[in-house]
Amino acid sequence: MSRGKFLETLAGTRFPTPPIWLMRQAGRYLPEYRAVRATTKSFLEFCYTPEKAVEVTLQPIRRFGLDAAIIFSDILVVPDALGQKVWFAEGEGPKLEPLTDPAQFGQLSRARLTDRLAPVYAAISAARQALPADTALLGFAGAPFTLACYMIEGGGSRDFAKVKLWAYRHPDSFALLVDLLVEAIVDHLANQVEAGADAVQLFDSWAGILPEEQLFGWSLEPMVRIAHGLRARHPKVPIIAFPRAVGPAALMYRRPDSFAALSIDTGIGAHWAAKELQPTICLQGNLDPIMLVAGGPALEREATRILDKLGHGSFVFNLGHGVIPQTPPEHVAQLVEIVRNWKPSA
Ligand code: CP3
Repeated sequence: MSRGKFLETLAGTRFPTPPIWLMRQAGRYLPEYRAVRATTKSFLEFCYTPEKAVEVTLQPIRRFGLDAAIIFSDILVVPDALGQKVWFAEGEGPKLEPLTDPAQFGQLSRARLTDRLAPVYAAISAARQALPADTALLGFAGAPFTLACYMIEGGGSRDFAKVKLWAYRHPDSFALLVDLLVEAIVDHLANQVEAGADAVQLFDSWAGILPEEQLFGWSLEPMVRIAHGLRARHPKVPIIAFPRAVGPAALMYRRPDSFAALSIDTGIGAHWAAKELQPTICLQGNLDPIMLVAGGPALEREATRILDKLGHGSFVFNLGHGVIPQTPPEHVAQLVEIVRNWKPSA
């Protein structure tokens, strides 16, 4: 039991109730987060200040006693560390100086990555020391396709036409970018594990915009290469894959040789997931983040429905995507109560 419920669950142990943590559990919905956030103008500088990153990593653990903490950082620290210009415009989300020509790939280099991201690793070491022994600490990275989306679009996008056109028209040059990202992400994840992360999650937030054929080559295959690259350096570290909005193509990601768990979004039915995915792989998910805003009996009903479907198998309770800023913190406390008091029906 010393490794805690979250890591034991990923290793195959069953408990009467599943462990719980929430994507984006540190964030603007918490007044104590906003207070620390207000002390630094630039979001990246905030991420690169270990004392502040540690403080906001611990806030949701202190308040809610969740089973895992996730280090406070962002997926876009990797393009930043590769040498691309990244900034966060107030109220507009992330911005990057977009890659428009394969010749620019040559300017990106992973030689500086470990130095540039040293503050993230310092934060992980300090957070691991500060956390209770049975609370797991997660490291993370964006998967290559999602990072390529931001790097080529220069930020979020309505249709991601630029990145898709590049991948469809010039697959060879797109593959060079993906290869560079695979190597950079393995470095970043290995560094996080060496600093003290107990497990890691790979966020492929935009996987769902790809047709199935392309999904295999540009989302799953690079994620599997990352898993094998990381395992070569750290054979035991559990890796959670989150290919968001891929629908039934989630079946392709049942790869227990690569991933310890598969994180499912709200679009995947819990009943289908229990039947088709869970017998092969531990699942994580998949409450609608808006249910957490709703709270009350609606939250109780929906969380219990998910528990009744998935709580009998290998399962980590989470959301289908991140906590949103409008979420009342009391509803998170309510959800933790519901999960911890759940009684399996049979
Ligand atoms: O608590 C945690 O989950 C850890 C911290 C974390 C952040 N971003 C902090 C953050 C994690 C795991 C991420 C991952 C991330 N970042 C993803 C993958 C997960 C997903 O949501 O699909 C993506 C796509 C990003 C890129 C990103 N960073 C966006 C689109 C935004 C703007 C959206 C927003 O809410 O403003 C960010 C900024 C960001 N990253 C914030 C936080 C708490 C908000 C900025 C602020 O507080 O000023």
